[in-house]
Amino acid sequence: MSKSVENLVWHEATITKEDRQRKNNHKSCLLWFTGLSGSGKSTLANALDQVLYNNGLNSYVLDGDNVRQGLNQDLGFTDEDRIENIRRIGEVSKLFVDAGTIVSTAFISPFQADRERVRERFADHEFIEVYVRCNLEECEKRDVKGLYKKARAGEIPHFTGISSPYEAPEQPDLTVDTAEESVEQSLEKLVNYLKDKQIVR
Ligand code: ADX
Repeated sequence: MSKSVENLVWHEATITKEDRQRKNNHKSCLLWFTGLSGSGKSTLANALDQVLYNNGLNSYVLDGDNVRQGLNQDLGFTDEDRIENIRRIGEVSKLFVDAGTIVSTAFISPFQADRERVRERFADHEFIEVYVRCNLEECEKRDVKGLYKKARAGEIPHFTGISSPYEAPEQPDLTVDTAEESVEQSLEKLVNYLKDKQIVR
């Protein structure tokens, strides 16, 4: 146990996660979107969020580019910083799930071990790893933010897929392939998954 937590005692909440889920009329969970930059994580997370919102459900998106401008503005892209980035997002997501929200996270999260560490913080059915598959060639062709071009020119160190590794999920709960499927097709898979697991009705 780290020194900073050894004299702390967990205080049980008066209103539980289950109370909040009952009030909301749906379960809460974490959809963890992982994939290369430009694979479509944010697009899909936001598209799903829109569907959930339109249906009156409690949902929220945590997005790498945004969270890195606030909570995680002290972190860069070394392996060590990415590990801490993912750890913090895992903890923030846990608070959202406790609060009864369906949270979608869109982070490259390139390391299998980091994603597994997040999974361990949740009950089995609460953590849903969504592999947003898209081959590097296609991501590079899209180059939505112009970052691959810069990375190829050596202007961005540790760029995922170019000069830093991406470990694809070994056993994702769901895979969408954005090089092969339309946004609508991937979205349908996501919604069906949530219905199948009875997270939403
Ligand atoms: S993660 O690897 O730590 O999970 P995260 O998803 O938070 O990454 O941030 C990735 C976003 O940061 C990319 O979509 C891109 O816009 C930007 N970025 C800036 N530098 C890098 C880099 N070296 N590697 C990957 N993405 C980068």
